[in-house]
Amino acid sequence: MTPDMPLTVLGLESSCDDTAAAIIRHVPPARAEILSNVVLDQTDLHAAFGGVVPELAARAHAEKLDLAVEAALEQAAVTLDGVDAIAVTAGPGLIGGVLSGVMLAKGLAAATGLPMIGVNHLAGHALTPRLTDGVDFPYLMLLVSGGHCQFLIAHAPDRFTRLGGTIDDAPGEAFDKTAKLLALPQPGGPSVQAQAAGGNAARFALPRPLLDRDDCNMSFSGLKTAVLRTRDSLIAEHGGLRAGDRADLCAGFQQAVADVLVAKSRRALAQYLALEPAMPVFAVAGGVAANTVLRAGLEGLAKRLGVQFIAPPLALCTDNAAMIAWAGLERLRMGACDDMTLAARPRWPLDQTAAPMLGSGKKGAKA
Ligand code: KG4
Ligand code: ZN
Repeated sequence: MTPDMPLTVLGLESSCDDTAAAIIRHVPPARAEILSNVVLDQTDLHAAFGGVVPELAARAHAEKLDLAVEAALEQAAVTLDGVDAIAVTAGPGLIGGVLSGVMLAKGLAAATGLPMIGVNHLAGHALTPRLTDGVDFPYLMLLVSGGHCQFLIAHAPDRFTRLGGTIDDAPGEAFDKTAKLLALPQPGGPSVQAQAAGGNAARFALPRPLLDRDDCNMSFSGLKTAVLRTRDSLIAEHGGLRAGDRADLCAGFQQAVADVLVAKSRRALAQYLALEPAMPVFAVAGGVAANTVLRAGLEGLAKRLGVQFIAPPLALCTDNAAMIAWAGLERLRMGACDDMTLAARPRWPLDQTAAPMLGSGKKGAKA
């Protein structure tokens, strides 16, 4: 394969609660074009449980993946004959869902003879700024979602350095749990943000964990506990939560998350710029990157430091298959390809050399 050969790639994503398929076409030197980007989300399926139920997610992926592929092909107006390769998320994530995707990719590859490539889900997020903005390597990336929170230096499609990350909950998880504590709808991010709009962020003193530590690690589980305690003392005092209490608590929580992420981004940027002073680029991805207070904070920080700030459109920040197709395409161009031994990997850190985070358990780092 020549580096500038036109390529059309089908991407599959099923590692959490979105069943997704997409087709992208890349004719160098132009940017890749997203011909279709189908996401069948499972929000309603898990809504009553206050979180993703792995078994329900796996069944829904198994039922819907082929429908997502059909829709992606139809919307892109191509058939499998017009596809050059299949890229599939092979981990990290919920094993049932990842297996559904990998098995479908193997079936399609066996039936069509097309090359297949297993993609790390986090690489999909981390390479998105190259798909959307054509960013050159290297750059610093903050990946902040319901399942992940880490700073990565992207050096190449298959080479990343993790500077740090959360040692417990991901921020999106903390938003979702906070929403649950305050009886707000899921997913928690948008509903907490909406409540926070009318609130006083300074009313409650909520913690900003690990800011005293001179590294890029973060912790969000204490913040969630502080929200619980504050809620309970408000209920004890007033016999229930008043609308203003809820708004102030949401605003305080959101500000605490944003403050921690902005402060740690400053550290990560200092470390990154010491290594790569000639490439001052900072990108963000993941569902929490939709948060307007956080976005404004990160944008302001980048501006003060003279760093280019990139935030892909929301549909490409949250889980999707276009990013998987793109990450697969980048690796294909490097000559990588998988065979029928491709395994689903629930744990698959992008940076295999970084020390596992606290709480990663006996089996090592998840991501
Ligand atoms: O990237 P994503 O779609 O899925 C993964 O977790 O991989 O992120 C979903 C997370 C949820 O926890 C959701 O509450 C959060 O992103 N989120 C937000 C906002 N919109 C979505 N968090 C804060 N503010 C928002 N506006
Ligand atoms: Zn994700």
